[in-house]
Amino acid sequence: MAIDDKVVKTLGELHVTDAAGVQALFAEVRVAMETESKDCERWRNQPPNALRNRWLARHNSILAQIDEHWRKTAPKELVPIVGREFNALKKEANDKLDVAIAEIKKAESPWARSGTGADRTQAPDLTLPGYCRSLGSIHPITRVQREMEDIFLGLGFAIETGPEVETVYYNFDALNIPESHPSRDDWDTLYVDAQTVLRTHTSPVQIRAMEKYGAPLYIVIPGKCYRNDKPDASHSPMFHQMEGLAVDVDITFADLKGTLDFFAKQFFGESVRLSFRPSFFPFTEPSGEVYVSCSICDGQGCSVCKQSGWIEVMGCGMVHPQVLRNGGIDPDRYAGWAFGLGIDRFAMIKYGIDDIQLFFQSDLRFLSQF
Ligand code: PHE
Repeated sequence: MAIDDKVVKTLGELHVTDAAGVQALFAEVRVAMETESKDCERWRNQPPNALRNRWLARHNSILAQIDEHWRKTAPKELVPIVGREFNALKKEANDKLDVAIAEIKKAESPWARSGTGADRTQAPDLTLPGYCRSLGSIHPITRVQREMEDIFLGLGFAIETGPEVETVYYNFDALNIPESHPSRDDWDTLYVDAQTVLRTHTSPVQIRAMEKYGAPLYIVIPGKCYRNDKPDASHSPMFHQMEGLAVDVDITFADLKGTLDFFAKQFFGESVRLSFRPSFFPFTEPSGEVYVSCSICDGQGCSVCKQSGWIEVMGCGMVHPQVLRNGGIDPDRYAGWAFGLGIDRFAMIKYGIDDIQLFFQSDLRFLSQF
């Protein structure tokens, strides 16, 4: 007799007369509940709560009928055992049916339906189109950063990183940047407290690396930097730099020029030209700014290079002796060069992008082009 037929009869009609009989009867109910809970096929096209309602609804559910026909009419001596079994069953149904419903829903997902779900009795239809997730792509800044890293790794440089939340000492003092320098101003720098800043450049890692490794040292340092800048087409309060640092005996400015020339040709192509122009940084002496010939107009002059044919892309110079000393390196024995470039700027030139904000807006129409 099916469970539906049993619950409409009384214990007497079912010939259950003792405690053992009651327990066996409830055990049968539990098995039925368990079996139904796993029967995805049965519940698949029904409203989400159908399984729960069948067992637990106030009226006409299996439990409501057991209450009506078994518990309320039970002979006196069976009342306690029927009551106990009934309460246990109700608790179990409450605990298990919601879980079972969730499982059934999961098995209904397209992934499961193609053969991995609970329903393994039906062979998957191999003629249906497959489901595939789109993989996304590498962010253009990450892509450019990795490309730069690869070029320097090929030259024997190592990659070093440092903290984005930096002390004023490493970000300014150790780099010879005096208290009076405008870059230390609130207008240019994001302070966490008087002694802590969001680093304004990757140069503080020069000092950290010299302290950690000593000389000789050949590293590049990619990472995020922060300045108190209003966002516009060429400024972002968060941007990316890559620092380069070489410290060794007999290092000269010619090594710096040769390395940067090689790097630029690898990155932009053989036809690119570099222009070094004198500049000033407190942590390099002499210092220079590096311009690359505009790849958009090939040096003829356009709006991107402001008709000059050249685009400024980095600062560089020979490491100041005091900076070597601050890093624990003897400037009488060793010399070094350093540069700092804007990764975002390089990416803009390489891909012809005229607004730096596009990199940080997470707009898939832009990002999926890379
Ligand atoms: N740190 C400088 C800047 O952010 C760039 C730089 C790095 C210049 C290393 C010289 C040497 O503008």
